[in-house]
Amino acid sequence: MTTLGTPLSPSATRVMLLGSGELGKEVLIALQRLGVETIAVDRYENAPGQQVAHHARTIVMSDPAQLQALIEVEKPQLVVPEIEAIATPMLQQLEDAGTVRVIPTARAARLTMDREGIRRLAAETLGVPTSPYKFCDSLAELQAAIDGGIGYPCIVKPVMSSSGKGQSKIDGPADVQKAWDYAMAGGRVSHGRVIVEGFIDFDYEITLLTVRAKEAGGAVHTRFCEPIGHVQVSGDYVESWQPHPMAPAALQKAQQIAEAVTADLGGQGLFGVELFVKGDQVWFSEVSPRPHDTGMVTMATQWQNEFELHARAILGLPVDTTLKSPGASAVIYGGVDAQGIAFDGVAEALQVPGVDLRLFGKPESFVKRRMGVALAHAADVETARVNAKEAASRVKPRQA
Ligand SMILES: Nc1ncnc2c1ncn2[C@@H]1O[C@H](COP(=O)(O)OP(=O)(O)O)[C@@H](O)[C@H]1O
Ligand SMILES: [Mg+2]
Repeated sequence: MTTLGTPLSPSATRVMLLGSGELGKEVLIALQRLGVETIAVDRYENAPGQQVAHHARTIVMSDPAQLQALIEVEKPQLVVPEIEAIATPMLQQLEDAGTVRVIPTARAARLTMDREGIRRLAAETLGVPTSPYKFCDSLAELQAAIDGGIGYPCIVKPVMSSSGKGQSKIDGPADVQKAWDYAMAGGRVSHGRVIVEGFIDFDYEITLLTVRAKEAGGAVHTRFCEPIGHVQVSGDYVESWQPHPMAPAALQKAQQIAEAVTADLGGQGLFGVELFVKGDQVWFSEVSPRPHDTGMVTMATQWQNEFELHARAILGLPVDTTLKSPGASAVIYGGVDAQGIAFDGVAEALQVPGVDLRLFGKPESFVKRRMGVALAHAADVETARVNAKEAASRVKPRQA
């Protein structure tokens, strides 16, 4: 039996989010609704999730000493990584010592914190189909990997990066130097290692939200949400929709891959499994052991959105992954570099049928920073996509 306590009392169930952006904010809200006491951690003050949590803490999460000190002072029962750039070996140490439980596991957080751990696990240990790839530490190694079999076109990504940062496509020999330099400038930690992947000419790509949760009897079961289709521009998601139609054979393969990868990572929680599909062929791309940005669409499409699913799963509660309605999401970018911006056109956006909005409350806007999202439900995905994009375009961020 799972017992939940009363927040701000000795019986409290305490959960710490490491990373409190727009995705963490929704997880925190879902936890708040179950009376969980929440601690929102981020690297800057007034991060979106810090605005809705019981406690807000600002530290450098990649610094093991700071991370350890905070966890030992706050004593959460659960630590929930919401970003990749965390001192994961320290989480492993604290988990091994029995100090905390890391979601879904400290090992999953460590393996997915850079592209190498998870890619080698999926392709080499689990034998899941992926793009051909090589890891390279220099321009010369990159060129040799391409000439040695990866070929053109290919994609270069820093091993430590997200949202398409430092990532570029190489169409021929003339692009190699440029792609290397771009990766060196865009990586999170400048240790100069990249992955080069053969380009997969997929028909479409999906996120398969996969939940490992306890059901009656206490055993962990794997549940799948309907596939989410999405469009990425320069490696960053701009639009997503659910359900994305799939041939039965492709869906079955996608679920088998997702099951294999998430079962190996273990623990309880929601995972965003990214897959490429061409006909009945499916390739594993990467996985987030946490809610996925393209999954924000589930706030319009599921009875329990991905954040509620994650909150329930990590607390040992049962989940319902069923679809409520077809729907779509469209990202609202800042459009300006400024602090404390204003949003015009919100009322106009909400006049679009079936539309809802999230404005994340980020203190600082950048031209290409995700500041909000438009959500739409409709009788079909096509209508929802049109309406979500229309609503997003009506929101006009500006300098206040
Ligand atoms: N090998 C590949 N072939 C074709 N497209 C790719 C490949 N790798 C990445 N992409 C495209 O770039 C996007 C971002 O790549 P991804 O590896 O998911 O990086 P990130 O961790 O920044 O999300 C993918 O969603 C896909 O659209
Ligand atoms: Mg991705």
